[in-house]
Amino acid sequence: MNNLNFDYCKNILITGGCGFIGGNLIINLLQNTNSRIFNIDKLGYASDTNRINNFLAKNNEKKSRYQFFNLDLRENEKIDQAIQLAKPDLIFHLAAESHVDNSIKSPGIFIENNIIGTYNLIDSSFKYWDSLNSSEKSNFRFLHISTDEVFGSLGELGSFNENSPYDPRSPYSASKASSDHLANAWFHTYGFPVIITNCSNNFGPWQFPEKLIPLVTLRGLKKEFIPLYGDGKNVRDWLFVEDHINALILVASKGEIGSRYCIGGSNEKSNYEVIKNICKHLDDINPNHSPHIDLLTYVEDRPGHDRRYSINSKKIREELGWEEKNSFEKNIKKTIFWYAQNIEWCNEMLKRSF
Ligand SMILES: NC(=O)c1ccc[n+]([C@@H]2O[C@H](COP(=O)([O-])OP(=O)(O)OC[C@H]3O[C@@H](n4cnc5c(N)ncnc54)[C@H](O)[C@@H]3O)[C@@H](O)[C@H]2O)c1
Repeated sequence: MNNLNFDYCKNILITGGCGFIGGNLIINLLQNTNSRIFNIDKLGYASDTNRINNFLAKNNEKKSRYQFFNLDLRENEKIDQAIQLAKPDLIFHLAAESHVDNSIKSPGIFIENNIIGTYNLIDSSFKYWDSLNSSEKSNFRFLHISTDEVFGSLGELGSFNENSPYDPRSPYSASKASSDHLANAWFHTYGFPVIITNCSNNFGPWQFPEKLIPLVTLRGLKKEFIPLYGDGKNVRDWLFVEDHINALILVASKGEIGSRYCIGGSNEKSNYEVIKNICKHLDDINPNHSPHIDLLTYVEDRPGHDRRYSINSKKIREELGWEEKNSFEKNIKKTIFWYAQNIEWCNEMLKRSF
């Protein structure tokens, strides 16, 4: 990342910067650029402000480069004002409701936040961009961060790529697909400089403990039953969050406007395999409670549960030179040990509800 040219970017706006991926991105940008970083987040149940605040407390000299707007993208007038204040050269749009199970229980919340919220952000950003001079306009980028779930579910073979047709199957993926279409439409209709990324399941430290890897780790650490949906053979392509952040920064610096980049970890694992791996590490951490795999309990499958996701990342690898830094094994071990050392943080987060 250090050799990338972000000199043109004085002001970078991140939405959803108090979430898992956004928080990682903000810290990376504060560490590796001289840009001013603006963060719009509504502070929902999955948000965490401690992480960025702790980082700034230890790096006092970076404080003046960071500004937080506690705003909801559904409030369009306030979003207009924030964009005018931030004067961004680059926007990373990550804010979204992100948990499939919640979308099954309360789809309307996903429609409002992920579709209307994205529309408001694009509308405000486009108006701002349209007011810039031609050199500022050509430097500007709007990165829309999406998911591989918009492409639906795969069988045993094949992988998604940039040309895969849309086939969302949950209210979450349908809301993300809609927001992708909005971003795409503003590029084609108005020339707004959008780039879309579709990534696979992220994992790493600081993820809200409702998602598979932190949830299983925590339950194992607490000797609670570990739920596994259906037959446990649903496959996900696991991407370490730091590799994802490096990919996003690369796309922002060198990606082609109007284009799309698929980002996957090339780590296809069934949910059962992931749980088995976590339990093996937990046996090392806490041998008295081994074997942790005995905590595994099969539960009724999630409705419409996509069977397999897999991403072909050839384009971003070949065109932009992206690659993962470390192996899945090394990254998952680091992640599990992080959760084992941060149980208090997890317990605090779990007191919140959607
Ligand atoms: N985590 C993954 O595995 C994954 C995979 C593919 C794509 N994505 C996408 O990446 C993005 C970030 O995911 P994450 O895992 O960090 O999610 P997260 O749930 O951890 O964080 C999302 C953040 O967005 C904020 N937010 C939601 N709606 C908002 C609104 N209306 N206004 C302002 N802020 C709002 C929340 O408060 C939260 O802090 C999402 O767009 C998600 O769809 C995530």
